[in-house]
Amino acid sequence: MCGIFGYAGEGVTSAVLVEGIRRLEYRGYDSWGLALACDDGIALLRRVGRIGSAEDTALDGCSCRAGVAHTRWATHGAPTEENAHPHRDCTGRIAVVHNGIIENHAALRARLQGLGHVFASETDTEVIPHLIEEMWKTEPDFGEAFLAAVRLLVGTFGIAVVQADAPDRLWAARLGSPMVLGLGKGRTLLASDPAPLVAHTREVIYLDDGEIAVLTSDGFETRTLEGGTVTKPVQRIAFDLPAIERGGFPHFMLKEIHEQPESLRNAFRGRIVRAEGTAKLGGVEPHLLRSAKRCHIVSCGTSLNAGLIGKYLLEQLARLPTQVSNGAEFRYAQPVVEPDTLVIAISQSGETADTLGAVREAKMQGASAVGICNVVGSTIARECGQGVYIHAGPEIGVASTKAFTSQLVVLALLAVHLGRMRGLSLRAGLQYLDAIECLPAQAARILERESELAEMAGLLARASHVLYCGRLYEWPAALEGALKLKEISYIHAEGVQAAELKHGPIALVEPDVPVVVLAAQAAVRAKTLGNIHEIRARGGRVIALIREGDGEAAALAERSFAVPSTLDPLLPVLEAIPLQLLAYHAAVALGRDVDHPRNLAKSVTVE
Ligand code: M6R
Repeated sequence: MCGIFGYAGEGVTSAVLVEGIRRLEYRGYDSWGLALACDDGIALLRRVGRIGSAEDTALDGCSCRAGVAHTRWATHGAPTEENAHPHRDCTGRIAVVHNGIIENHAALRARLQGLGHVFASETDTEVIPHLIEEMWKTEPDFGEAFLAAVRLLVGTFGIAVVQADAPDRLWAARLGSPMVLGLGKGRTLLASDPAPLVAHTREVIYLDDGEIAVLTSDGFETRTLEGGTVTKPVQRIAFDLPAIERGGFPHFMLKEIHEQPESLRNAFRGRIVRAEGTAKLGGVEPHLLRSAKRCHIVSCGTSLNAGLIGKYLLEQLARLPTQVSNGAEFRYAQPVVEPDTLVIAISQSGETADTLGAVREAKMQGASAVGICNVVGSTIARECGQGVYIHAGPEIGVASTKAFTSQLVVLALLAVHLGRMRGLSLRAGLQYLDAIECLPAQAARILERESELAEMAGLLARASHVLYCGRLYEWPAALEGALKLKEISYIHAEGVQAAELKHGPIALVEPDVPVVVLAAQAAVRAKTLGNIHEIRARGGRVIALIREGDGEAAALAERSFAVPSTLDPLLPVLEAIPLQLLAYHAAVALGRDVDHPRNLAKSVTVE
C-alpha cells in the first residue's frame, strides 16, 4: 500500500529512483513521483498512472546526493498529479513521501491553515511537510524539527523526507508502516520492503515502530520518537535479484504459479521428523503448543481462505476447537480470548494492518500469537515473536498464489505436530507426512497440463458471473478460486458451500453462469456429485475439479480437470493450482493487467 524508495549517496538521478519504485510498484500503482534534493532547491516529478518510461527521464540532467520516490495507492484524494507524492511545504524546500494514513490530518490541516499555510492537494500526507516547516521556524536543527512534527502525527506512517538546505541526507520515520534501510558502499538507502534494495546491497536494518533515522552516504543514525538512542542489528536479505524478476514469464503471477513445486518443497524442507511421525517447527515454543486449549486464526483475503482450511485441519487432526476471523473483525468484535488460546496470524506480507491489529489485540488480552508469514523480518513476524516462515520466496503478483499453497502446507505441518501431541497416531502422522512430501511432484504434473486449463478458461472469460462451490476442505478452496477470478479478471465470482446452494444461491444458476464445482474429496463425494446433478437439472454448466480416475464425476460435468489423488485435507493445495490457472487465463483472454489489477495493492497496510 504505497511504495517508498530513498537514496543518499553521490549521483542520485531520477533513473535510479524510478528503478527503485518500479520494484515496489505492486504496492500501489495509481500515480507516482520523486524528489531530488539539489543545491538550488527540490527537483520534483509527479505523474498519474503506471510508472512510465519516456517521462521518467525528465529530470535526468539532475544528479544529486539524496532523493526520494513514491508509488501510490490512493487513500485521501483521487489519483491526480496534485495528490501524487512527494508533497512539499510552502517554501518548496521540504519534500515528503508517506505510506499509511494520518488520522488527525483534518485537525492538523485546519491548524496549519490558520497559521497561513497553503495546501495544494487533498491528501492527508501534505500536513507533514507543512508541519515540519512550522516546527523548523522555532527549532533551528532540522532533525529536531522533523522529530517534533512526527510526534504530532496520529495514525500509521512510513515517511521519508529530503530538504534543499541539507541536500546530502534523508530523514525517515516509522509507525505502523514498514521501513527498511539498506547499507551499501558509499550509499544508504531506504524502502518500504527489501525488493528494491537487493540491486544495491543485501545488508539491511529494519526500523521498528516509533523510530526515526537520518541517512547519509556514510551510514545512518536511529533514535526513538522519545529521543532515545537505539542500536539496530544488521540483517541479510535472503533472496537475490532473479527471485524478484519475471524470468521470461509474461507475468509475475504466472511465474509464481509455476514456482509451486519448489515453493511447496521449501515449506516442508527440514521440518519432517519421520521417526516420530511429526513435524519440527523450531520457531514456536513447545510449551505453548502443548498448553493450547483452542486456536483462533486471524488473517485476510487469501490468507483468510487458508485459515478456514487451517480450522478444519486443526480440528480434525489435533481436535483443537478453532475459530477463524478476518483481522479487522477480530479487533473490533470483542472476541473471547483466554490465555490458553493460541492465536495464529497468517499473512504473506506480514504487514497487513488488519491482521497486525488483531495480533496486537490478542496479545493485549493475554494470548500468545504465532505468525505464519512469508516475508522474513516483517512486522507481524516480529510482533508475534514466534512462528513459522513459509519460505515461498518473494511474491510480487498482486494475486497471491504460491504463498497460499505454502501456507496450507505449513498449517498441515502444524496440525500434524499439534495432533501428535494430542493422540494422533504415529501411523496417521506418517500418512500425512508422506502425502505432504508427494505434493511438489503432483503440483508439477498439474502444471504440465496448463493448456487444458487455458482452453477451459474461455468459458469463464465469456461469463459475467461465475459460482464456485465445494464442501468441507473444498469450500475455502472454492472461495479462493472465486477470489482469484474476481480480482484479476473483474468477472463477478462467488464462492459458496455446495450444501448451501439449495438454500438460495442456486437461484443464480442458468446457462450463462458457469459453476466451478470442487468434487475431488472422498469423504463427501456422493453429496457433491448430487450437487452437480442439481445444477445440471437447472440448465447450469459445470466445470468440475475431480479426483484422478473418477470417471463418473467426469461424465457428469460439462468440463472436468482431474487432480492427483491425495488425502482430503491436502486437496486444496493441489486444487488451488488449476483454479489459479483458470483465473489467470480468463484474465489474459480479457486483456486484463494481471499483475496490477485495478484498485488493488499487494500489501494492505491501512485499516
Ligand atoms: O499479505 P497478506 O497475506 O496478509 O495479505 C492479505 C490479503 O490482502 C491478500 O491475500 C489479498 O487478498 C490478495 N490480493 C489475494 O490474492
